[in-house]
Amino acid sequence: MRSSTPMTQDAAVATAASRRLSLEEIVSYCRRRGFIYQASEIYGGINGFWDFGPMGAELKRNIKQTWWEDMVTRHNPLVAPAGTPSPFEMTGIDSSIIQHPQTWRVSGHSDLFSDMMVDCHETKKRYRFDHLAGRWIKDREGNPLFIAAAPDAPDADAFLDQRARKLLGISKSREVVWDSPLTDLAELDDFANVLAPHASEKGTLTEPREFNLMFKTYIGAMQTAADAAFLRPETAQGIFLNFRNVLDSGRFALPLGIAQIGKSFRNEITPRHFIFRSREFEQMEMEFFCPPETSHQWYKYWQQRRLDWYLDLGLRRENIRVREHEASELSHYALGTTDIEYAYPFMADGEFGELEGIANRGAFDLNSHSMGRLAKADPPELALDENGAPLHRGSGKNMVYNDVARGEKYVPYVIEPAAGADRALLAFLCDALEIEKLGEGGGEDSERAVLHIHPRLAPVKAAIFPLVKKEGMPEAARDLFGAMKRKWNVTYDEKGSIGRRYRRADEVGVPVCITIDDETISQGTVTVRDRDTLEQQRIKLDDCPAYLDKLIEG
Ligand code: GAP
Repeated sequence: MRSSTPMTQDAAVATAASRRLSLEEIVSYCRRRGFIYQASEIYGGINGFWDFGPMGAELKRNIKQTWWEDMVTRHNPLVAPAGTPSPFEMTGIDSSIIQHPQTWRVSGHSDLFSDMMVDCHETKKRYRFDHLAGRWIKDREGNPLFIAAAPDAPDADAFLDQRARKLLGISKSREVVWDSPLTDLAELDDFANVLAPHASEKGTLTEPREFNLMFKTYIGAMQTAADAAFLRPETAQGIFLNFRNVLDSGRFALPLGIAQIGKSFRNEITPRHFIFRSREFEQMEMEFFCPPETSHQWYKYWQQRRLDWYLDLGLRRENIRVREHEASELSHYALGTTDIEYAYPFMADGEFGELEGIANRGAFDLNSHSMGRLAKADPPELALDENGAPLHRGSGKNMVYNDVARGEKYVPYVIEPAAGADRALLAFLCDALEIEKLGEGGGEDSERAVLHIHPRLAPVKAAIFPLVKKEGMPEAARDLFGAMKRKWNVTYDEKGSIGRRYRRADEVGVPVCITIDDETISQGTVTVRDRDTLEQQRIKLDDCPAYLDKLIEG
């Protein structure tokens, strides 16, 4: 009996008909296929924390590795990219999560890294003040009532209409007549007539209170106030603290980018939308130190380069937007900020959420860590307390760079592309995961779930199958698997029909399936089947590593 790989196993080549998944479907897929689980799930979960399973850990590792390669190790410091003033150097560090507490006073995080929040006495829910909005209506007695929408409701108007109908007994055949358009809670004088989202009584919201987003901990056993420290809310500060160390120990010249990947922690008031806003997450940040007059050129360069990174790795252009911040939105340190935003599936049509921010931080951070917390960055001016003394003292260390090539001395300006590994993972998953129609006729073979993830990011790079469990095929497949495993994360699967094995591989984004059949035994060739085009071709068994290498690296 001939047992070569059936060339029509995928039915028809995928038709154009495919659909993206909702966030709920993505959450369920992630759990089912071992990408992401709720942290401490067996104890009921813990809000704002997530665990990455076998597939998710690989995917996240690949995102970080790809970022590091593209930013640091593959960078050529001898060539100036088109449109930039000069070549530049890149390097990386790995700093502590806990730094000296003065770091956060001087950086502004102790004073300014906070959100106003309100609590609901009745439902015990906590909301970010600036996330609450609602509409005025008359209650059954004709008194004014402000109904607040749940901030996570996909459609605030639909949520409010539904609440009003239920509370005021308005039938579906009648229109709900509101007394105001959607109004921010911040515009109200008091909350006595406010009905909080999901509450049954009005007037249950507290006054807004400031809530610092840093996680506090203690160093040592005594746990006195003097031992307090904080888990870093961003990786950036570890780079500023080490700027002089890196410069002095590495024989680097400016412009110089220092990259870092690591965990950050923010006690977010309303962690939500799956891993989009969590309390523990990973950042991929780079601080690019350059001469002040060149900073705008570099700011533009990094905007384009970071956008290209996402596009090159497969995000669809129509799902990405680049948005420059209004002056009123800028953080205390920023001279300018641009967000790369993605159309996450939990957002309404036409809306986008932050994926990465690129900021021109000027010399704010280096000056602050040298002089003390600044009130004004340009020219630098110290923030003073009520007695006229510096509000928070700096280290006193000199951050002036002696630029021999330019014949100048200056405190460098900093351009910062700040990305989130978790948000990038979410965007790549949302963009790549599709349900595809393979043909008419219904039934389980008429559609497939497929993750069209870029091969560099794919958690598993290849799946190796013996066509049947006899005639020497499993042995040959295992040999190939053992050889390929030395370099790549590949899988071996001999269970079920070849069609089912393809489906399992497609669903987790394996770019290529390699089937060992009788022609492998007789002629030393295998069938390789492409995840995206479904095309199959025969190649030499010995060419498998080179084939996979080309597929991943292009
Ligand atoms: N050093 C600048 C900085 O930290 P940011 O905009 O606050 O800037 C940078 O954070 C990136 O970190 C964001 O674009 C996002 O990708 C990620 N990020 C921030 N907060 C996050 C959270 N609570 N959960 C997941 N990712 C977050």
